[in-house]
Amino acid sequence: MHVTQAILTRRSHKVFDGTPLPDTDLQHLLELAIWAPNHKFTEPWRFTVVPKRAFGQLWQAVQDAADTDKARSKLGKLQEILAGAGAAIAVRQVRSPDNAERDLEDYAACAIASQHIQLGAWERGWASYWTTSPGFVGGKLAAFWQTAADERLVGVIFLGKAALEMPAVRRHAAASVAVWL
Ligand SMILES: Cc1cc2nc3c(=O)[nH]c(=O)nc-3n(C[C@H](O)[C@H](O)[C@H](O)COP(=O)(O)O)c2cc1C
Repeated sequence: MHVTQAILTRRSHKVFDGTPLPDTDLQHLLELAIWAPNHKFTEPWRFTVVPKRAFGQLWQAVQDAADTDKARSKLGKLQEILAGAGAAIAVRQVRSPDNAERDLEDYAACAIASQHIQLGAWERGWASYWTTSPGFVGGKLAAFWQTAADERLVGVIFLGKAALEMPAVRRHAAASVAVWL
């Protein structure tokens, strides 16, 4: 699959068929992630890989973190996602609290690393979606994701074999959001 095709056909998927991702594919995705551009070679990314076989721990942590009625009411939905997904990768950023510019650039680099994971997965036939949902990434889950005190959780990417076709979400035409000189 060429990069253009990967970009144009990747969609966010949340409904997966339960197939686990092999460790070799997860390793490959990390290898792609670390080739993201990053200013001054800060390589600000850290990853927490949760293969399907460790989802029991994730589900336990998600339940433990849901300590309000509102959070508990959403557990069913989260459980469905976990039942279908084949792995998860959390992308964490090492922060630079004394350097706002570097901190912003490093967040951008981590976002690009995340997209490398999504596109590389798609190339191998794995769908994905990136979540910042509090039920999966809220502060109470920091210990589970091993987010250190000097880090932030940029997002969690769930991966799996798509069980549904996802329509493209409409984009405004490129011409309408660009100025040319
Ligand atoms: C920073 C970021 C956070 C996101 N958080 C969520 C999320 O919490 N839940 C979700 O369903 N999708 C999330 N998404 C995925 C977007 O909703 C999705 O990319 C968007 O709907 C466009 O659809 P597409 O990815 O199929 O093109 C997130 C995407 C980004 C870049």
